[in-house]
Amino acid sequence: MNLLDKIGREFSGYNILESGKRFFDRRPLQCSLYVTDRCNLDCAYCTEYDNSRSHPSIHDLKQWVRKIRELGTMRIALVGGEPLTHPDIVELVRYCRELGFATSLTTNGFLLTRNLVEQLEEAGLQVMQISVDRMTPSAITKKSFKTVLPKLDYFSDSKISLHITGVICADTLPEAQAVLETGLSRGIPTEVRLVHADPLQRFRVDRGQREELERFIDSMIERKRRGEKIHTSEAILNYQRGLLRGEHVEWTCVAGYKLFFVSAQGKFWICSMVHTDKHIMDVTLDDLYANYRKKSCQEGCGVYCAVSASLLVEKPIAVLGKEIVARAKRVPSIFHISSSPRMGDPKPRGIANPDGTHEMNDSANGSPSADDRVTLRESV
Ligand SMILES: C[S@@+](CC[C@H](N)C(=O)[O-])C[C@H]1O[C@@H](n2cnc3c(N)ncnc32)[C@H](O)[C@@H]1O
Ligand code: SF4
Ligand code: SF4
Repeated sequence: MNLLDKIGREFSGYNILESGKRFFDRRPLQCSLYVTDRCNLDCAYCTEYDNSRSHPSIHDLKQWVRKIRELGTMRIALVGGEPLTHPDIVELVRYCRELGFATSLTTNGFLLTRNLVEQLEEAGLQVMQISVDRMTPSAITKKSFKTVLPKLDYFSDSKISLHITGVICADTLPEAQAVLETGLSRGIPTEVRLVHADPLQRFRVDRGQREELERFIDSMIERKRRGEKIHTSEAILNYQRGLLRGEHVEWTCVAGYKLFFVSAQGKFWICSMVHTDKHIMDVTLDDLYANYRKKSCQEGCGVYCAVSASLLVEKPIAVLGKEIVARAKRVPSIFHISSSPRMGDPKPRGIANPDGTHEMNDSANGSPSADDRVTLRESV
């Protein structure tokens, strides 16, 4: 990849024309589509898989994505369950691209092969999120670099922009820093986020560890400002720190309007946590606009993609401006790597997530609890 391509990829998520329009019209920015409920893993903190259900057919999925595009949606995030378990995932990606969607996919990475990465790239997939929680598997989560590291080579010459996202919970906190460093040291945009949906509060981080977490988030903000590839916006890092401190943040949730979810049964969901029984085929632009309002579940919300989109809609110049400045700081390092190649140097990669809204699946629930522990709400 030549130098100009590398610089271009740093800003590849800025579909300026179409993004710009979305600030002035009533159409949605992003839909997260559950390609399937089925999963090959069983992360203990996850409420988003169900192996009693079968995959939706490619015929149904295509019908839903046509409708999602007709609503004017700009980006589609293919999520699950595990999207790579769906036998027609490559065909679906190709179809989304034919319809003109910016297309991303979130995976645990276990089913990735070199051949599959090539097929997804050829089908036009632009962004892939691989979820990595730890360095080694645990009883809580098997998503670790032990499995994923050997697969990163598949992306060395791929046009797919790769990023890594980890979940921070009590089990993964001791390795969160190592996960971040490992991703960044390979030149891959990386982030680690607070666990969200946790109805039984089994995975929350002890209050005693809260200061450690706050320091960790502060260090990510610092590194982000220096131009390091922390794969989330400063606004969201600030928001997470606010959650940890139990601070009230003023915002208006645009979930169900500027971004929404579609379940693996074709149902319209406001977000990953708030579901409706309405079928996506029956949804109108007026239905979407009706969701542009403050919501009773906002306090402590952990659906970070929704928070990102909401903060962006509220303060586009402030949020995007900071991101553009942080990204521009990466350009000199691209020159450096480009002009002095060394064996083992990580390849610089672009990020197609200028505003953080292209983060997949998020969910939320409860706010930091008042007892002596703190419940961390979600992300993705
Ligand atoms: C539901 S998974 C679906 C895609 C794929 N199976 C995977 O794990 O990447 C999407 C993302 O949600 C994250 N996730 C699942 N449950 C979560 C929770 N309770 N809190 C925070 N993130 C969670 C996963 O780690 C993953 O990054
Ligand atoms: S987080 Fe992803 S990999 Fe883990 S159980 Fe949920 S859907 Fe499966
Ligand atoms: S849970 Fe969060 S994202 Fe979902 S509707 Fe409520 S406030 Fe919005």
